[in-house]
Amino acid sequence: MDQDLDAYWMPFTANRQFKKSPRLLARAEGMHFWTPEGRQVLDGVAGLWCVNAGHARPRIVEAIRQQAGELDYAPPFQMGHPKAFELAERLVKLTPAELNKVFYTNSGSESVETALKMALAYHRVRGEGQRTRLIGRERGYHGVNFGGISVGGMVANRKMFGTLLAGVDHIRHTHDLQRNAFSREQPAHGAELADDLERLIALHDASTIAAVIVEPVAGSTGVLIPPQGYLQRLREICDRHGILLIFDEVITGFGRLGSPFAAEHFGVTPDLMTVAKGITNGAVPMGAVFVRQAVHDAFMNGPEHLIEFFHGYTYSAHPLACAAALGTLDTYEEEGLLTRGRGELARYFADAVHALKGQPHVIDVRNIGLVGGIELAPLPGEPGKRAFSVFLDCWERGVLIRTTGDTIALSPPLIIEKSHIDQIVGTVADALKRAA
Ligand SMILES: Cc1ncc(COP(=O)(O)O)c(C=O)c1O
Repeated sequence: MDQDLDAYWMPFTANRQFKKSPRLLARAEGMHFWTPEGRQVLDGVAGLWCVNAGHARPRIVEAIRQQAGELDYAPPFQMGHPKAFELAERLVKLTPAELNKVFYTNSGSESVETALKMALAYHRVRGEGQRTRLIGRERGYHGVNFGGISVGGMVANRKMFGTLLAGVDHIRHTHDLQRNAFSREQPAHGAELADDLERLIALHDASTIAAVIVEPVAGSTGVLIPPQGYLQRLREICDRHGILLIFDEVITGFGRLGSPFAAEHFGVTPDLMTVAKGITNGAVPMGAVFVRQAVHDAFMNGPEHLIEFFHGYTYSAHPLACAAALGTLDTYEEEGLLTRGRGELARYFADAVHALKGQPHVIDVRNIGLVGGIELAPLPGEPGKRAFSVFLDCWERGVLIRTTGDTIALSPPLIIEKSHIDQIVGTVADALKRAA
């Protein structure tokens, strides 16, 4: 093993495999990375679903540079700085009108913990402190902290870590290859799976349930797109029983589906909405939770000199992150990126990924906006291995994709052109032909 690579224990990485044949990225611009040797790699995944405007965009780079020289840090507790407020005002113009308050975090995982804590505290300040149960969904991914893995439903992320949070339950996932394989956009079957929440309500009683959290489109678990009518039904059930609905929009936020947020895309407004990633185009760590006025207002009582919500991070509203986010919003607006993933471009992307039907091992293709999921039949007894070999093959041939289990997930920067789509899908098709 190369000694220089030894000390760094890499996250969500096959460390021993990586250190035997490293994949290093040294530079990035627009749609591309370059390796230290100068090899160009097309970014088919927007870094990690975050670089929505493409890499090294001048407005963002300049905003960070300027901010570093002007105000490097400002404490966020009992103090503020102008860009934190300016950014909040701009952000809530993009969200559904009801979600008009912003709480800053530094990552998707922190946004999730924040939203779960807000939900519990909200019921308590309203005198319904017995609503302590949190409901997630099988196959859900909500980051890696204890709240997130408790409501999450990916077994590998949970099984090593003890008993997790108490009082959590899960509704069924919506993945249904038998009825929905090769659907375009929202699959036709499965709205009734939202009724699984009624089953948990019958089991636990609604008066014990604080909130339900779902990803409108699940990414990390292999691109699961909500069946037609499913999210609407979930919203109705939550409303009927006084349960808060949390959308985890860490990957769907900021244009991924062709709308600013999935909430707008599907016409369903949650009570709380978590974001991260695209908020700064990945350039500086940042996350946020958007909150309904009524949820926020429930906290605003008691003596005015007292803190209303005992929660926050040293780096909440970090000046560099706020500057990067403002530069990011400028870029999104100037180039119309938050709605670029719909219409003609999305159709071209959809046609391209669906053309993979019939390639070796492909058992499903799913798409929405600029998200594509290509599910492969697993190698017998070796789940994930086939897709990983496709990932390595594409990397060797100059295209970065991502795999989770045996699903290939594509989520390119929103600045993508048709020629890039051709290159990504063509490279995947060739790799599939070579895959064992
Ligand atoms: C839906 C969802 N929630 C939360 C997270 C966690 O975000 P982070 O890695 O920034 O903590 C992710 C990351 O991919 C995600 O996809």
